[in-house]
Amino acid sequence: MRAISIIKSEHKNLDAVLYSLDKLIEEIDDGKHPDFGIFHGLFTYIDRFLDRFHHPKENHYLFPKLLARAPESESIIRELGQQHTEGEILFVEMLKALSAYEFSGAAEYPHFRDTVLRYTEFERRHAQLEEDEILPRAREALQAADWEEIDAAFEQNEDPIFGKKWNNEFSDLLDKLISRMPAPLGLGDDWK
Ligand SMILES: [Fe+2]
Ligand SMILES: [Fe+2]
Repeated sequence: MRAISIIKSEHKNLDAVLYSLDKLIEEIDDGKHPDFGIFHGLFTYIDRFLDRFHHPKENHYLFPKLLARAPESESIIRELGQQHTEGEILFVEMLKALSAYEFSGAAEYPHFRDTVLRYTEFERRHAQLEEDEILPRAREALQAADWEEIDAAFEQNEDPIFGKKWNNEFSDLLDKLISRMPAPLGLGDDWK
């Protein structure tokens, strides 16, 4: 059942990233110059970790095992699987909007802003739905042998920003985030 705590901690990390994106938008709204480097770093993290590891592990291990043991969960499992696909579509829109904003400037900001806020709201709701609907059902219905397989899959890939191996290409991004995030998440007194 270790996968449950891994999923929850990956959701918490995702939440910190979504929070950072909202804050970056807020600071541009307040007239600050956009920090494109941080946006690129956060988007790369979302692509590399969330879309390539977190969601596929749910799709390939957690959801099918739960479906087999609790067929009554079929509609919620289908809905969450569709949300993984929808989330990727929203992500690509946000990425295209970032590119247009960086290339063309302020005229493209309102569209970029919309895509980011839509994405953060969507992914937050998605993770919450999994925690409310899927994790409790899984805890109840899955057997030890199911967990063995699911746990092995979730233990395989460490979060590149928030995991233990901090010394990687995301280290600078993490340093930047920590120095800018308000306490208790970061060291900054306030979002500067
Ligand atoms: Fe998910
Ligand atoms: Fe999830």
